[in-house]
Amino acid sequence: MCGIVGYIGPKEKKEILLDGLKELEYRGYDSAGIAIIEDKKLNHFKAVGKLENLANKTKDYHSSGFGVAIGHTRWATHGKPTELNAHPHLGKYSFVVHNGIIENYQSLKDKLQKNGVTFLSQTDTETIVHLFEYQCKQDQNAFESFKKTISELEGAYATLLITEVAPDTIFFAKNGSPMLIGFDGDDIYFASSDTPIIGKAKEVYYLEDGEYGYAKEGEVKLFDANGEKKFQKQSLSTDKASAQKDGYRFFMEKEIYEQSRVMSETMMGRINSNNIYFEELDSEFLNGIEAIKICACGTSYHSALASSYLFERLARIPCAVEIASEFRYKEPLLKQNTLFITISQSGETADTLEALKMAKRAGLKSLTVCNVDNSSIVRESDRAILTRAGIEKGVASTKAFATQTMVLWMLSVYMASLKGTISQDVLKGEIDAMIHTPKALIVNEGLHEKIHRLSKRYLHGHGFFFIGRDLFYPLALEGALKLKEISYLHAEGYPAGEMKHGPIALADSELFTIALMPRSLHYEKIKSNVEELSARDATILAISPMPFDLADDFIQTKYDSHPMLEFFEMMVITQILALEISIRLGNDVDMPRNLAKSVTVE
Ligand code: F6R
Repeated sequence: MCGIVGYIGPKEKKEILLDGLKELEYRGYDSAGIAIIEDKKLNHFKAVGKLENLANKTKDYHSSGFGVAIGHTRWATHGKPTELNAHPHLGKYSFVVHNGIIENYQSLKDKLQKNGVTFLSQTDTETIVHLFEYQCKQDQNAFESFKKTISELEGAYATLLITEVAPDTIFFAKNGSPMLIGFDGDDIYFASSDTPIIGKAKEVYYLEDGEYGYAKEGEVKLFDANGEKKFQKQSLSTDKASAQKDGYRFFMEKEIYEQSRVMSETMMGRINSNNIYFEELDSEFLNGIEAIKICACGTSYHSALASSYLFERLARIPCAVEIASEFRYKEPLLKQNTLFITISQSGETADTLEALKMAKRAGLKSLTVCNVDNSSIVRESDRAILTRAGIEKGVASTKAFATQTMVLWMLSVYMASLKGTISQDVLKGEIDAMIHTPKALIVNEGLHEKIHRLSKRYLHGHGFFFIGRDLFYPLALEGALKLKEISYLHAEGYPAGEMKHGPIALADSELFTIALMPRSLHYEKIKSNVEELSARDATILAISPMPFDLADDFIQTKYDSHPMLEFFEMMVITQILALEISIRLGNDVDMPRNLAKSVTVE
């Protein structure tokens, strides 16, 4: 996702920009660029792919003396990741970088084109720089032109603009996308989050929506709809790791809270009110596919397992899921016309990668659902759908699982509509539920507080059973995995209907059962399974939209109109439960003992 850095002052500007962009790398991007004006001369460089490519391109360039500089990492939304579409965007004598989406860019572009302006890129951002230069022709005053430019923009933006007509100035504006200004004496920095300027600036001002202005000669002039505005700087933390956590105690906690937002990124450009679309796939690729085989490990395996219910139920296509390390050595029978799907957050998991190579050797078409572009699994697969969760730092996977599950749900509905196995009404219902998913993922403060309070009752005992049926069985597996990874307590996920075939022998008041009881899928069935456990005095934490008197603890959910909405809401609850238990036990939530984020050995 895009990132912005800016600097005005006498220091070496290229290094400041590249260094700052490096700090934003974790957000994910597919191209980058910088523009610098010094000595009234404009220099700019852009490169597709990693920042190393940009660093290579600029290796013989060094800035010297006073100047202004802006840089950007771009994560493509309008137009492909090409050098032309990378920021900064040039007019004739000005450069702009921008995060967000200009919603009315097409009408602004049409107007400018009618006035003879030529556009080079497919981006919404380029409109800003042309609009500015168009205004400059009438105003002869750069700030007035900038002000008029931003007054015409609709949508979300954080933007920086530099221009040869005011070579000592950076113009800025913020509305809906984050941006801040850093100060160190006369040196002024800009960035879309504080990590690029930690260690450089001593004080900071976080811009509010609707604010704009310019920086010049060590001073910032700030304006909003009421005119010029005084502002209060605050001191800036010097601790990078804590700044990256944005005030959360752990990366895992931050990543749980991010799920609502990243889910919208996962769906962006792939869904509208009538249809689902994957530019990564075409109908020819899926032509003739008669079965699906999915291989993955750990959390990714749970996401795969959940999707197998959807592929069979909606797309009516047989779907088998296997743990990659098991698959590798079982001498599997692979039938042609089977689509081989791998799921991986890192794209580097050795067992999953090897399973993929086996499937390819057997001549199967391969598709991966992955969070890391250019990873080994992405490179090895015929096709890749990126989950767009952004970098996941907590070892215990959260947002990667959520976005994997969403992509697979979308894929199952996409295949169902290609095969004609669902009606228009069902298709609409699925899409409607997808669109509501970000809401179901919002962590409500009261809920978090409640889970924090009740977690103190779950720190001992002789183990946990997470139980669910259907889609909620893989979720039970995932809930149990989260808990054991970070609390080191024993937890098992189990199909609720299986309990009476053995595990119920363990039931007593020291056996903690986390019961996932959705309203929209087999409620009566799971209810009677939980009643059986309650009758044997197991301690029960029920998670359900339906009041359940036999529970010792009860968390009521809200979104019960679709099983997947229930799934995602309950997923967040199980994640927070694991987090709070682990914190109470004093464990390192982000780096649990014995675990690594990327498992590159078999
Ligand atoms: C658990 C977890 C692991 C991974 C597994 C596969 O929280 O993160 O179980 O899911 O190691 O990793 P990826 O998805 O990178 O292939």
